[in-house]
Amino acid sequence: MLLSLVALLATAAAAVARPADQTVFGVPAPPSPPHRRPSVELSSSRHDSHGSTFSPLLPPAIPLAVKSPYLNAWLSAGGDDGSKGYLAGSWARHWPVHYAGSQRDHRLSWAGLIRIDDEVFEFLGAPLSGALSFLGSDKVAQQTAFTYTATRSIFTFEAAGVEFNATFLSPVTPNDVVRQSLPFSYLVVDVNRHALENRTVSVYTDISGEWATGDSSIDITWTYKSEAGIGTHAVSRKKQLVFGEHAEQAEWGHAVYATALRKGVVAGSGSADKLRARFIRHGKLDGTHDVRYRRVDNDQPVFGFSVTLSEQEPAAIFTIGHVRDPYVNYVTPKGQVSLSGAWTTRWPHYVDALSAFQLSASRALLEAARFDATLREDARRVSGDAYAAIVELSTRQAFATFELTTGVGDDWKEDRDEVMAHLKEISSNGDMTTIDVVFPLHPILLYANPTLLAHLLEPLLRYTHSGLYPNRWPVHDLGTYPNATGYNRGDDEPMPVEEGGNMLWMSLAYFQLSGDVKWVEKHYDVLKQWTTFLAEDGLVPAEQLSTDDFAGTLANQTNLAMKAIVGIGAMAELAKGIGRWTDWVHYRAVAEAFATEWTKMAMTESGEGRHAKLSYQDEDSWGILYNLFGDRALNLKLFDQELYEEQAAFYQHKLERYGLPLDHRHRWAKTDWQMFAAASSTTRKGRDGFVDSLVDFLAAGKVDAPFPDLYETPTATFPGREGLDWPIYFIARPVVGGHFALLSLEAADAVNGVDPEERFRA
Ligand SMILES: *[C@@H]1O[C@H](CO)[C@@H](O)[C@H](O)[C@H]1NC(C)=O
Ligand SMILES: *[C@@H]1O[C@H](CO)[C@@H](O)[C@H](O)[C@H]1NC(C)=O
Ligand SMILES: *[C@@H]1O[C@H](CO)[C@@H](O)[C@H](O)[C@H]1NC(C)=O
Ligand SMILES: *[C@@H]1O[C@H](CO)[C@@H](O)[C@H](O)[C@H]1NC(C)=O
Repeated sequence: MLLSLVALLATAAAAVARPADQTVFGVPAPPSPPHRRPSVELSSSRHDSHGSTFSPLLPPAIPLAVKSPYLNAWLSAGGDDGSKGYLAGSWARHWPVHYAGSQRDHRLSWAGLIRIDDEVFEFLGAPLSGALSFLGSDKVAQQTAFTYTATRSIFTFEAAGVEFNATFLSPVTPNDVVRQSLPFSYLVVDVNRHALENRTVSVYTDISGEWATGDSSIDITWTYKSEAGIGTHAVSRKKQLVFGEHAEQAEWGHAVYATALRKGVVAGSGSADKLRARFIRHGKLDGTHDVRYRRVDNDQPVFGFSVTLSEQEPAAIFTIGHVRDPYVNYVTPKGQVSLSGAWTTRWPHYVDALSAFQLSASRALLEAARFDATLREDARRVSGDAYAAIVELSTRQAFATFELTTGVGDDWKEDRDEVMAHLKEISSNGDMTTIDVVFPLHPILLYANPTLLAHLLEPLLRYTHSGLYPNRWPVHDLGTYPNATGYNRGDDEPMPVEEGGNMLWMSLAYFQLSGDVKWVEKHYDVLKQWTTFLAEDGLVPAEQLSTDDFAGTLANQTNLAMKAIVGIGAMAELAKGIGRWTDWVHYRAVAEAFATEWTKMAMTESGEGRHAKLSYQDEDSWGILYNLFGDRALNLKLFDQELYEEQAAFYQHKLERYGLPLDHRHRWAKTDWQMFAAASSTTRKGRDGFVDSLVDFLAAGKVDAPFPDLYETPTATFPGREGLDWPIYFIARPVVGGHFALLSLEAADAVNGVDPEERFRA
């Protein structure tokens, strides 16, 4: 299998080319848009001063192993202190956690060395920067290229005349829930086969105990096993804290590091300097294992493999992961239920799951190449290379924010035939399955597989059905990850109109793409309960928070009222979909009447042309009316085409260098809402303008964390820098799934029979 890896990669590249009119995920491709704008500076030919190219661009942070909230390792690239995109010389970090005053570096040591004849080069992390330089081995492999795709980060190197790649693959398999749930990623190091004719090449990598706990002063233990065709290091916190976190890492379960057993593979553990020095001197480990269990930071124990390559086996493939059992716990009328990763239904023991993952690397690489090429082609068709660069960077980040588990049955016990998905609101506060965070995520799920959206809504709907939640509107979230303890006293963060509208909007979006009548019937009563609430409190929303809660409460928010109207309109369609004609007629009439009222109260002529105010009472206000996307995407036609055109024209007056601010009060912008607004544009120029300024923000290199979704539009920095606003770091969050708004619209238009061309004014 390993033998043919390079050939397979070449086949994969050839296999992915397909005619442009083919359908993807059941959606017929519309004709290519007639215009092509001058591309923003996306380049694979530009070298920086250190010799690497970056394609399609150098992102703020590069995903390495990004597969779950607890396997979320990135290479910081932007900002002043980042790696500038060079894999050698900087350590990976968890997300990386980034908040004002944080002194921790959240390092995840992952070291890589390559030995070519007698010379050793560092290519991953910074293993040679410390005590080892005395060995005369301070050479760094020359990075010549970096490319990212939706699922892969590929670094190309040259050392001693040998070309090799280090490919980090975090698979995205939306149509296979069990495989999607595996908390593992690959590192593939493959060397040009011809170079192996005359050279002796071996590769060494290791991980530290930092992958097993967020607290370096903690005692860890470890084991090494050869079974099921693989060698596996498992590293664990000595005292397991089930469902506990430290610095956002899981404090239970095991960090695992594995490779396939074959000739030329040797495992070992020991203090970092000694183990690495052995490889530097001999080109391989000797198979001995350290059993002096100790603290993470005491004579730093590391867990590694050396792999000798050959013409027959020109690649070394490693699996890195973090496994836990149980995964999360979930509130029921009979108490908390522990749920396990969905993969446990296929592989009761994690070593078998790890083995299946490791031994199917070739297949995973082929599938990844296909998935990546399809996404790239879809994105380019919709809005060009810039849009592709945005959604490709968003994919792994979004998929790694939720976990798929076993479900709960009608008897409120774990049901291993059912599936649930749970989302961690990474970085903003760790809330579990926050509705207004599932909401901005959901376009990526509509594009990739709408069933995943149903899995994420399941814990929320089941909790509502349980009767434990006392309020008439949907709960804001279910607790703090991984504890879905619910809010049985109704004391959750109040966002009643926001969450009511979100649930109804997402329910119809799911129904339109899935046709799942049974699902609508099952949840009809709670959907109706929320609609009743919106019909009472939605048109004139009392002072409350919207999803942009960092902006504070406000009465009469026009965008929030619009969400309520979209929600009621969505309920009308749901009723129609299952033949509840009276409800359909009723809710449609309410939504239409509200839309008329809304237009009277919300619009103003003041300033630069007719536009929606931020709140009914403030004549001189404005904001980005991103909930208009619901009317468009769900094909509700509650609002006139004029409104779309007026908003699109007005935004042109408010654009800053790097995008459109959220509203008149600040200069900061949300990346997800800009893509929602882009998807409701009435001109291609307007739509592509949003896309281009967002990619300019990414390429500006001012931020150093996984795709931040809140930034300052004049400067492309985090809030709180250069005198603007105050520090808020929204990073590695699920909401980047919202960047798929344009792609999800294409899918929705196809099932709703909407001609996408009609969206645009000539
Ligand atoms: C490295 O990756 C590049 C780009 O994907 C590819 O063209 C090249 O053949 C790869 N080299 C090796 C040694 O696998
Ligand atoms: C390997 O060595 C042979 C004989 O010296 C030479 O012909 C060949 O070009 C070399 N191959 C590479 C890839 O350097
Ligand atoms: C989850 O709940 C457990 C107690 O059941 C607690 O020990 C743990 O700290 C909680 N986790 C988080 C992240 O709050
Ligand atoms: C909200 O709007 C309603 C209807 O226009 C108005 O009666 C009310 O005074 C407004 N509330 C505030 C706080 O301005």
